[in-house]
Amino acid sequence: MEFQKLAEARRSVRKYADREVTREQVEEIIRTAQEAPSWKNQQTSKYYIVLSKEKREAVRTTCFPSFNEQRSLNAALVVTAFEKNNVGFNENGEPVNELGNGWGCYDLGLQNAYFILKARELGLDTLIMGIRDADKLRAALDIPENEEIGAVLALGYADEEPKKPRRRELDDIAKFY
Ligand SMILES: Cc1cc2nc3c(=O)[nH]c(=O)nc-3n(C[C@H](O)[C@H](O)[C@H](O)COP(=O)(O)O)c2cc1C
Repeated sequence: MEFQKLAEARRSVRKYADREVTREQVEEIIRTAQEAPSWKNQQTSKYYIVLSKEKREAVRTTCFPSFNEQRSLNAALVVTAFEKNNVGFNENGEPVNELGNGWGCYDLGLQNAYFILKARELGLDTLIMGIRDADKLRAALDIPENEEIGAVLALGYADEEPKKPRRRELDDIAKFY
């Protein structure tokens, strides 16, 4: 699909059909996400993928507030994380600049952007969920302490057609010199 059309076609979907996403689909999407640039090509982004119905249910009911629990029903769940204190830090372990671990998060966000667009290209939809309980996710999926947990991506087949939320005017966000 042409990029412009793909970018416009992607929406946050908050209602999913009862249809399974396969491991092969998720692998294809992650391979595309890996095409994203990263700080010194360090590639510290990580994915914890919950496909089984039983485990999905356990994660949704224990790690999400009720609204995200409902919105991700029937979807596969992809917990994203990045290695802490790695990118954005020098060999002495000091932050290179004021953003510190913000750079690891930046790299993860870039990969996540590729992820949600590739999913749409394959006919799948997504919801980025930033409101989740990281400690409970860490315990449920055995995520190492040296990794910071980012968003959970719901991934599945849309059972709604959401409207596009309004975007800000270009003048509000861009200043040319
Ligand atoms: C970092 C981040 C966290 C988000 N967290 C949530 C969330 O917890 N629950 C939810 O329903 N939507 C969440 N969203 C989705 C946004 O509300 C959505 O992207 C925005 O309203 C624009 O709509 P669109 O994605 O359809 O363009 C999140 C989006 C981002 C980028």
